[in-house]
Amino acid sequence: MISALNRTEALIRELAPLDRRIADAMRAVPRHLFVPPVALASLDGEDARVIDREADPEDWWDAVYADIPVITQLDDGATDIRTASGNSTSSCSAPGIVARFLELLDPEPGTRVLEIGTGTGWTAALLCHLAGETNVTSVEVDPVVAEQAAKNLSEAGFQPHLIVGDGAQGCPARGPFDRVHVTCGIRTVPYTWIEQARPGAVLVAPYSPRFKTDFQLRLVVTPSGVAHGRFPDLASYMMMRSQRSVPGRQPGETENKHHLTTRIDPRTITCAPAGADLAIGAITGLTAHDSDEPDEDGECHRIWVSDPRDPDAWAVAIWRPDSDEYQVFQVGDRPVWEEVTDAYFRWVGWGEPDYDRFGMTVSPEGQCVWLDRPEHPVPGLSFTGDSSAQ
Ligand SMILES: C[S@@+](CC[C@H](N)C(=O)[O-])C[C@H]1O[C@@H](n2cnc3c(N)ncnc32)[C@H](O)[C@@H]1O
Repeated sequence: MISALNRTEALIRELAPLDRRIADAMRAVPRHLFVPPVALASLDGEDARVIDREADPEDWWDAVYADIPVITQLDDGATDIRTASGNSTSSCSAPGIVARFLELLDPEPGTRVLEIGTGTGWTAALLCHLAGETNVTSVEVDPVVAEQAAKNLSEAGFQPHLIVGDGAQGCPARGPFDRVHVTCGIRTVPYTWIEQARPGAVLVAPYSPRFKTDFQLRLVVTPSGVAHGRFPDLASYMMMRSQRSVPGRQPGETENKHHLTTRIDPRTITCAPAGADLAIGAITGLTAHDSDEPDEDGECHRIWVSDPRDPDAWAVAIWRPDSDEYQVFQVGDRPVWEEVTDAYFRWVGWGEPDYDRFGMTVSPEGQCVWLDRPEHPVPGLSFTGDSSAQ
């Protein structure tokens, strides 16, 4: 059996180049202390399957020291993990993305850190090593997950300040914070986090508009209480509970449905790069996902677009071979497919900027995504202005 030490070194080599301090933190905080004996992982890129430390120790250790997330909870705890089917709602995030977020956060010894989404406690422990345990506050919404995290952290020798509750509230009593590290996906940045942060503080989060692609977000808080930042890379995380999408109404449950057609090949949107996804998500507030699975009529490519807050606003556009026009099935009156294609062509008109040209500003009035600089906001749901990118 390979030792945990050797496995950690192999993982650190795999993640290279890696900030020396983050590598040292990973050496000091072995990941296996935070992974339960039975969990779910996907070692081969296929669907996640059960890893069981007792039944197949080698498989469990391989998964724990691979650069993959280990899922520790399904359906907020309502579904037994051994069924391996359901929505993943808590995990020990993949080491590679944990490291990239910590590099962006850049905690120093003595910096006060607020983490949102304690999960297994692994990131909280890494933060304790980097910033000092008395400076770390971590909030977890799920009491069962929080209890296990507290146990994991204590057994690993760390005592950060742990809170069970809605992370959107932050923790004013422990602020002001120098760093805010969000480890669940958000489409809206709660202003409380900016309010509880010191000028110059850095906030990192998985920005998850869920229009095909999700992003890393890094914001810096200014003395006026407004935060600005950019999207350095891509990142996909489980959504914060209060910001999850509502499930769309099934066609059998509503009379309000429409059969339409479009001249725009649905693959134009599906194959568009991440910059288009960011722009369309910001302009429309809609989410999207796609599939190549054939249906009862044969070969097809489908893209679903939906309003994450409204079960009666979604559509699916379907590409089939040898078609000049494509079917769009829409539930509700909101013309979501048209909004998406309009937003796409706006992005084309801006010169098809990639995601690294966009940024975000968060103020007490809300948030807006901008192109190139904060004075050039993307005309979205949360912002309208004369000088916007039209
Ligand atoms: C990807 S996991 C976090 C991984 C964790 N940081 C680790 O190192 O293992 C996301 C966590 O966010 C939690 N979460 C979701 N919504 C939350 C909220 N409103 N406040 C606090 N935690 C939340 C979930 O219960 C889940 O445990």
